[in-house]
Amino acid sequence: MAMAGRLGRWLRAGRASRCGSGGASGSSSGKSSEQGWRRPLRHSARPACAAALPAVLACQYLDGRRSYCEGGSSSSRGSSIIRFRVDVDRPGLLSEATEVLKKQQVNIRDARISTEEGSKRATHIYFVEESGETARGGLSEERLAEVRAALTQLASGSCEAEPWPVFSSEEVAKHQTPSNGIWVSYKDGVYDITDFVQNHPGGKDKIMLAAGKAIDPFWRIYQQHTGRGNALELLESMRIGDLSDPPDTTRTASDPYDSDPERHPGLIFHNNKPCNAELPSELMMDSWLTPNPVWFIRHHHPVPEVNPEDFRLCIEGVGTKAVTLCLEDLKKRFLKREVVATLQCGGNRRSELDQIEKTSGIPWGFGAMSTAQWGGVYLREVLQHCAGLSHENVEAFDVKHVIFKGMDGMEASIPIEKALSPYGDVLLAYEMNGEALPNEHGAPVRVIVPGVVGVRNVKWLGRVVASTEEAEGPWQRGLAYKGFSPMVKELQGIDVEKIPSMHELPVQSAIVSPKPGSVTELDDLEVKGFAWSGGGRGIVRVDVSIDEGKTWITAELADGKDQCYNRAWAWTFWEASVPVPAELQGKEFTVLCRAVDSAYSTQPERPEPLWNLRGLNCNCWHRVPVRHQE
Ligand code: HEM
Repeated sequence: MAMAGRLGRWLRAGRASRCGSGGASGSSSGKSSEQGWRRPLRHSARPACAAALPAVLACQYLDGRRSYCEGGSSSSRGSSIIRFRVDVDRPGLLSEATEVLKKQQVNIRDARISTEEGSKRATHIYFVEESGETARGGLSEERLAEVRAALTQLASGSCEAEPWPVFSSEEVAKHQTPSNGIWVSYKDGVYDITDFVQNHPGGKDKIMLAAGKAIDPFWRIYQQHTGRGNALELLESMRIGDLSDPPDTTRTASDPYDSDPERHPGLIFHNNKPCNAELPSELMMDSWLTPNPVWFIRHHHPVPEVNPEDFRLCIEGVGTKAVTLCLEDLKKRFLKREVVATLQCGGNRRSELDQIEKTSGIPWGFGAMSTAQWGGVYLREVLQHCAGLSHENVEAFDVKHVIFKGMDGMEASIPIEKALSPYGDVLLAYEMNGEALPNEHGAPVRVIVPGVVGVRNVKWLGRVVASTEEAEGPWQRGLAYKGFSPMVKELQGIDVEKIPSMHELPVQSAIVSPKPGSVTELDDLEVKGFAWSGGGRGIVRVDVSIDEGKTWITAELADGKDQCYNRAWAWTFWEASVPVPAELQGKEFTVLCRAVDSAYSTQPERPEPLWNLRGLNCNCWHRVPVRHQE
């Protein structure tokens, strides 16, 4: 299965595999590395370096410890690349060949296949080394002869091998531009990321910081790459060789997450570095306001430590008088305002989309949302009364966005209409549920933008900038919070910046009880859950069904049902008592819910049409399988 996955990705990606001139690392040949680049595998599996080989070697094993390519390095650690060219490819051949290699006790590091358009020919490519603790390295001539004999019995064709390329960091550093190829190293591997750069969920600018360099120090900060998800797998599919001088990992650099706060063990942790943890369903409806210690956490970086006494908030930008405020200024010069608001991550319920096809992001259940009473000052009052951003200035200077810059490196913006609206309730918050804002949640001051996707609610706020442009960076302009059609599987040819960034979220609801797999003996099933919608749209109704939507019971709305029209920033709890009809007694069935908001928008039935590359905005009917026992 794993192999099939890799294969699928490789073929879908349709990318060119490029390889330097067979280990030109630090070579004195002076040969430019482009000369050694491979053409796209899909059309030709023959590398330029192999093409330069004497014909007699073309179907022979090339000793992994030697390079036959001009400018070759002698520092190869001896893995081999076996190319098995078959005249007529057939389904299952890759698995059969893999089995043969395994039986020959060859360790397969990676396997790929490239097909020739309009032909049945294909090239199976195996990145292999001798297996066994002590015997790591390329295959000996005898061993390769055995492997070749075994492989060529499977199908007619030819089989050849070449050394696994080895590059120095000096060579990697020469590849920093699309024209020259963008290479990075990670541990002892070298990767060609040229075609991936524009598809990077963390944005092109971030990944380009590592162009030509080792990504290890970057990934120590962004540990979501290694903790979970598919980043390592993606990276491996782009491997083009080994690094001859990998960074010394025995010297432990200080961990940027050492000073992160202690966390409540009841949270469901998806990552720790940076921390991404969800509110467990068991605690979700204990109280309408989520207790601070179990509030969901969505971080992008280590938690910065800011001494409240040293805190300064800079407000600046077009049409604005630059001002700097300390915490006391905010507390004393402005009226304290309180807003109850639910925040939801744009990727909440992503795990349901992942079941259709893996997306890229944290596989949240439905707990990437929580509610608090926030205390602070209205952003609009600070902007208008203190920084002089009048409506006239907005017009005159064409101010369109307000950008928030966090001290952790986050940056996001909201439209000026929301920032200045007297009904928008955007807050510079220094309190959470009656306590000083915890460090975990952005102390001393964070932004609360009610009704809007969580990522705009920037924590550890340092600067507020009135601007004619949206914020820069992956979380605003990049693909991280952009929605695509289910048909979009890669971003070649798509100008991501032109796609509007996410702000208000669609109507959402989920069943908190019963839990999936519950068994009930009662004639009436007690169902409860929450519902919420973006843009302050309150919940007007929640429907519950246990017969796949043929009939529905209207739930009783509870906490949160009486919020202001179009300022219903917090979730609404609901409950329903659903009679189990005779035909479902003693059977398994699914409990469904769907909410309707004040715009009479409702949740879509199926997840499939919602699937998108980043797994955002999953709000289909929530489904919980249960069993009735007589
Ligand atoms: C070179 C290979 C790289 C690959 C294959 C890769 C892959 C990914 C993937 C799959 C994600 C989505 C993670 C998730 O949300 O689950 C991601 C996010 C991200 N990446 Fe990378 N990445 C690479 C390099 C880098 C580098 C060098 C940097 C920093 C300089 C970086 C910074 C980020 C950031 C900031 C995010 C967004 C994290 C967030 O929003 O929490 N990445 N990357």
